[in-house]
Amino acid sequence: MPDPDILIAASDLTPFCARLLDALGVPPAKSQLVAESLVAASLRGVDSHGVQLLPYYIEQLEWGDMDGQTDGRVISESGACLLYDGQNGIGQVISELCCGHAVRIAAANGIAMVVARESNHFGATAFWAQKMAAAGQIGIVMCNASPLVPPWQGKEPRVGTNPICMSVPGGEERPWLLDMATTTVAAGKIFKAMINGQTQIPAGWAMDSEGVPTTNTETALKGLVMPLGGYKGSGLAMMAEILCAVLGGGAMATELGGIRFRGKAVRVSQMFIAIDIARFVPLDEFRARMDRLVRLMKSTPPAKGYSEVLVAGDPEWRMEEQRRKNGIPVGPGTWKALCEAGDRLGVVAPSVR
Ligand SMILES: NC(=O)c1ccc[n+]([C@@H]2O[C@H](COP(=O)([O-])OP(=O)(O)OC[C@H]3O[C@@H](n4cnc5c(N)ncnc54)[C@H](O)[C@@H]3O)[C@@H](O)[C@H]2O)c1
Repeated sequence: MPDPDILIAASDLTPFCARLLDALGVPPAKSQLVAESLVAASLRGVDSHGVQLLPYYIEQLEWGDMDGQTDGRVISESGACLLYDGQNGIGQVISELCCGHAVRIAAANGIAMVVARESNHFGATAFWAQKMAAAGQIGIVMCNASPLVPPWQGKEPRVGTNPICMSVPGGEERPWLLDMATTTVAAGKIFKAMINGQTQIPAGWAMDSEGVPTTNTETALKGLVMPLGGYKGSGLAMMAEILCAVLGGGAMATELGGIRFRGKAVRVSQMFIAIDIARFVPLDEFRARMDRLVRLMKSTPPAKGYSEVLVAGDPEWRMEEQRRKNGIPVGPGTWKALCEAGDRLGVVAPSVR
C-alpha cells in the first residue's frame, strides 16, 4: 500500500514553492507566478499539472537546462499577430507575457494570435486561457509537448499530449472551461501513479511499446500514451502541433526535449488566441447566452448510472471549493521530492497534517 497523501493549505504551499525557486536565484516575481500557477492546478484537482511538476522544474534549473532569468522577446508584431521567442525561459513567465500581449492586441483589433517558440512547460493550460476570460475575452490556448504519443496505428512516440483549452467569461453559472490533453488523459496522471507508488492505472490511458493497451504503470511508462478517441485524438494533436510549432517556426514533434530529460532544452511552442466578445455581441448578452446554453446542457436527463449532467470545468470548480476549505492532498512521492529539494536548497518545508 502506498503512503497516504499529506494535506496542506494553499496558503502554506504557495510560499514554500516560491521559496524553492527563489533559492535557485529565480527573481521573486517569477517564482511567485510559477508557484501560483502550480498551486492553482493543485487546487482544481489537476494534480498532474500542479506542484507535482515543481521538482522537475527545479532539476531543469539546477542542471542549467532552463533559463530562470529571461523574459524572452517579441520577434515581430503585425496587426493581430505576434511572434515571441521564449529564449528557453520559464514557461509560466513567457506565457504570462504572451497572454498580456494577446489581451492587449484583441482589445485593439478584436482578435489576437500570439505564438511563442523556444519556451518551456507552462503547467495547466487553463491557467492561461483564464487570463483572457478575466479580461472579458474568449481565450483559446494550445501547446505542443514532449513526444510520448504515437500517431494512431503507430507504435513509436512522435507527438506530445498537446493540450487544447478554451475559456469564456462566466455569467451566473460557473464559467465553461474546457482544458484537455489530446490523449485519453494527460501523461502526468501516469507519472502521478509512478511517483506515488500506484502499480495500476485505469484501462484506456496507455499502451505498451508494441501499441497493446496496458493497465500496468511501469509498462505504460516504458510504452506509449493513448491518443484520445483513436485517430481523432491524433488529428487534434496535429492541429495543435501545426498552430503552435509549424506556424511559429519552433521545434516540432520529436525535436522537443522534456522536463524529465537532462541536457536538452524542452523547446515547446505555445499558442494564445484572444477574442474580444464585445465585437460580436455585448459582453452581458454573451454571459446570459452562455448561462442559457449551460443550463440547457445540464437539464438533460442523466443516463443510467449517473445522477446529473456536467459541463466542462464543473469537476474542477467543485474540487477547488473543497480543497480551499479542506487543504490540498499532495501525493507522498511528490511531497518527498519537494522536501528533498528544500533540504538541498536550504528551504524549510511547512508542517503538514
Ligand atoms: N503543459 C502541457 O504540456 C500539457 C500537456 C497535456 C495536458 N496538460 C494539462 O493536463 C491537464 C489535464 O488534462 P486531461 O485531459 O487529463 O483532463 P481531464 O480528462 O481530467 O478533463 C478534460 C476536460 O473534461 C472536463 N470534464 C471532466 N469530466 C467531465 C464530465 N463528467 N462532464 C463534462 N466535462 C467533464 C474537464 O472539466 C476538463 O475540461 C489539463 O490542465 C491540461 O492543460 C498540459
